Amino acid sequence: MKPRFSVLRDVEVGEGTRVYDQVNLYKCRIGRNCKIDAYVYIEEGVEIGDNVKIRAFTFIPTGVKIEDDVFIGPGVIFTNDRYPRVRGRWRLQRTTVRKGASIGARAVVLPGVTVGRYAMVAAGSVVTRDVPDYAIVAGNPAKVIGYTNTEVFKEKVRRHLSGGEVRGEEADWPWP
Ligand SMILES: CC(C)(COP(=O)(O)OP(=O)(O)OC[C@H]1O[C@@H](n2cnc3c(N)ncnc32)[C@H](O)[C@@H]1OP(=O)(O)O)[C@@H](O)C(=O)NCCC(=O)NCCS
Repeated sequence: MKPRFSVLRDVEVGEGTRVYDQVNLYKCRIGRNCKIDAYVYIEEGVEIGDNVKIRAFTFIPTGVKIEDDVFIGPGVIFTNDRYPRVRGRWRLQRTTVRKGASIGARAVVLPGVTVGRYAMVAAGSVVTRDVPDYAIVAGNPAKVIGYTNTEVFKEKVRRHLSGGEVRGEEADWPWP
């Protein structure tokens, strides 16, 4: 692994993980078989599980934990300080993204939130509260608009994959 034009300091990276160019990874731990795209910025102490995909331009500060099998879309912004100021004391609030969740493009996740297992955060959402397991949330502030484990949603995805330019390889259903 030799990403070019990158800063990588004290990073633990698991087997099979691909890290693309122009990333900034500092004192963090990344599991196995992950894909970290270009322009991703990951701070000290961040923990990332196995089989995690992080698309370009995403910011993951200290205090964020990402479990296995999570998809993070492009331009996703996590935060860790509720009342940011240029100086003085601040309180770190920790954020967790549980196994199997997906976060859509350009979502913002406020500090201290947990995104539940197999949940889906819509593109452009601002997540201000915990997201329940399997919930689909959208908007600013993000509200529940459905659940990934319902037959209605699964059927919608099946129909979506039955035509057009379908790519990728066969895999288990991502939302049990
Ligand atoms: C959240 C998501 C999965 C919902 O898909 P869906 O179930 O097919 O949703 P629908 O298109 O049927 O929309 C349902 C409602 O939610 C709203 N909605 C859908 N996506 C939304 C979004 N990103 N922000 C706000 N509202 C949204 C729709 O306007 C619709 O509202 P209405 O009932 O008032 O008309 C999808 O819209 C989404 O954002 N996917 C993420 C895409 C992404 O970022 N991919 C990254 C890899 S490139």
